[in-house]
Amino acid sequence: MNDKEVKKFLFDQISKKGDLKVSQYIDIVLYNPIFGFYNRPSSKNEHYITSASLGLVFAEVVYNFVQNWWRSVGQPDQFSFIEVGINHSSIGKQILEKNTYLNSHINFFPIERARSSLVVGTDDIAKLEEQEIGIVFCNELLDNLAFDLVRFDDSRWKEIKIGFQNGHLAEVLHEIDDPAFLYSLSKLDLKPTEGSVIPIQTGAMEWLRNSLKAIKKGTIIAIDYFSSTAEMINKTIDQWLRMYRHHQRISNIFFQPSFWDITVDVAVDQLSLVKKPTQILTQHQFLTQGSIMDLIKDAKTRWINEKEITFESLKNKSLALEAQALLDFSGMGSFQVLRWVK
Ligand SMILES: C[S@@+](CC[C@H](N)C(=O)[O-])C[C@H]1O[C@@H](n2cnc3c(N)ncnc32)[C@H](O)[C@@H]1O
Repeated sequence: MNDKEVKKFLFDQISKKGDLKVSQYIDIVLYNPIFGFYNRPSSKNEHYITSASLGLVFAEVVYNFVQNWWRSVGQPDQFSFIEVGINHSSIGKQILEKNTYLNSHINFFPIERARSSLVVGTDDIAKLEEQEIGIVFCNELLDNLAFDLVRFDDSRWKEIKIGFQNGHLAEVLHEIDDPAFLYSLSKLDLKPTEGSVIPIQTGAMEWLRNSLKAIKKGTIIAIDYFSSTAEMINKTIDQWLRMYRHHQRISNIFFQPSFWDITVDVAVDQLSLVKKPTQILTQHQFLTQGSIMDLIKDAKTRWINEKEITFESLKNKSLALEAQALLDFSGMGSFQVLRWVK
């Protein structure tokens, strides 16, 4: 579907149902089964690069984490590794491909909502039966989940919805009628001024509720760009809401809907309304705890000791460079790793 046809679809939806919540709009433009951004055929890394898609180092560190966790919970004969939002770069798949003794203990549940070459599991963690013990893992999922927007207007919060004005998609302010929003806003410690805008992270909070239901015992790990609502209230919207395509960035959410990825910083204080994280680390700390320094040292030694350029020496060099990119504080190293223990 081209740009005009998608706009016509949105226009029909709005005519039938009234102005759309921002979360409904995002659900359509990112995940509509026919034309949603994540259902348009795209090749690996065409639009974005994640720690998981960069190479093998990240999976190696997560493997070390899984192994340590398994030992710390008494080496259960079977445990579940539930990975939500795998797209083209599944960490669970990379762990299983290592083919170690741990494989016979892992029940892997890949969960992916969009059409993907890797999909073999279910499309919704809420459909999973409760697992006895396990890990729920996601990398760069939460910033892609649908959120809503509220604006402080006339001395109170109002919801920004999406309607049509003069033939164009436009923001329309509505009185808040969702009790969950009023609850969240009453619990967050905010000092808004006239015109302040914040996201209400509907999708991320629901993901955490569902993840907590998915395991009786275990741990939940989310790696992403995290922030807090209080930080976002003091920033301009384009500092926490970003649209990407082919590694280019824009900030207009209405421009060519479904042709651009939509991502948002994730507010830890809102997730804490569901359950406070047990631990918060930077990706740099998480990787260091997962022995990334040993991996770099080994790769460097092997690469420096090679007398001539071989496939092996190039592989070791790229491993060391990849690890440095993951640790870089001005990029992926500053992502945060949130962990909940159940
Ligand atoms: C940015 S990609 C990250 C992929 C991968 N984890 C990585 O690190 O490369 C986010 C993925 O999450 C998927 N996704 C979004 N909402 C989801 C949901 N509710 N359940 C499962 N997957 C979802 C999207 O379709 C997309 O493939």
